[in-house]
Amino acid sequence: MTHTRMAARPYHDRVVWITGASSGVGEGLAHAFAGAGARVVLSARRGDELERVRSALPGDGHVVVPMDVSRADAVPALVADVRQRCGRIDVLVCNAGVSQRGRFAETTLDVFRRIIEVNLLGVAAHIHAVLPVLREQGGGHVVVTSSVAGKFGIPGRSAYCASKHAVHGLCDALRAEHAHENIRVSTLVIAAVKSNVNANAYTADGGQVGTGGRWSYSGGMEAKVAGRKIVAALARGQEEINVVPNRRAALPLWQQRLWPRLVYRRMAKLARSKWWA
Ligand SMILES: NC(=O)c1ccc[n+]([C@@H]2O[C@H](COP(=O)([O-])OP(=O)(O)OC[C@H]3O[C@@H](n4cnc5c(N)ncnc54)[C@H](OP(=O)(O)O)[C@@H]3O)[C@@H](O)[C@H]2O)c1
Repeated sequence: MTHTRMAARPYHDRVVWITGASSGVGEGLAHAFAGAGARVVLSARRGDELERVRSALPGDGHVVVPMDVSRADAVPALVADVRQRCGRIDVLVCNAGVSQRGRFAETTLDVFRRIIEVNLLGVAAHIHAVLPVLREQGGGHVVVTSSVAGKFGIPGRSAYCASKHAVHGLCDALRAEHAHENIRVSTLVIAAVKSNVNANAYTADGGQVGTGGRWSYSGGMEAKVAGRKIVAALARGQEEINVVPNRRAALPLWQQRLWPRLVYRRMAKLARSKWWA
């Protein structure tokens, strides 16, 4: 392959495993990685949706591996299966996630636990099982999807914020521990990408918000556009990647660093409104 083609397809023949690949951000990432030459392993719970995504991807050799990321006990066998079918794992993208709409006081602890199991413990279990493979291969890349809710607290999303803040700590520690082994770690700080995240969010009692919810990202970024931006930044080895539709959406991220009290006050005002629902 010529140098120019390699640059256009930086993931040529790389095996990229993406969770949450049956819709939204994960589906966009699957298209972008496949377009960059990768062989993609698609995971989520709904096998039929994964097949739909797989059949639309450019390139060959993509595989579907249904999994529930909250079933930590099942992960080692899935890792062995992917390794047997694909030969290697170069990039792991822990993207599957579930959001929340409900004040902390009204949210059951069971709902809180379920969100942590998917967004944090599921991520830790998956990385834990794939890490030995990356070390044995002499390197690799771990990517975890976070959110602006992983950078500052947003009302109505206490468990979601807790889980997304936690993955930053997990990833920063991992990056430090494995830098000398050529293992890179990146986090995606996402806001307003068109997906089903709002409809799939848990309500305080464990129901789903559904499509009638107040929130929509109709003015948000298309998932395929987000996927291409993310893959370009990952190929450059960027550690933390902001994926926001415009400068206005990025503003609270800067404000949080420079003037945190401004953000605390703004969030308290939002909490008094029904904005968060
Ligand atoms: N869209 C945004 O603006 C935005 C903003 C900030 C952060 N994020 C993050 O982006 C990631 C992707 O979300 P999205 O926006 O693309 O929402 P989405 O359209 O609802 O996609 C969520 C994905 O996660 C999968 N999933 C959920 N629970 C799972 C489980 N227990 N096991 C395996 N897979 C599971 C879903 O597939 P199945 O239902 O088939 O399992 C689906 O593929 C999440 O981590 C989310 O927190 C998104």
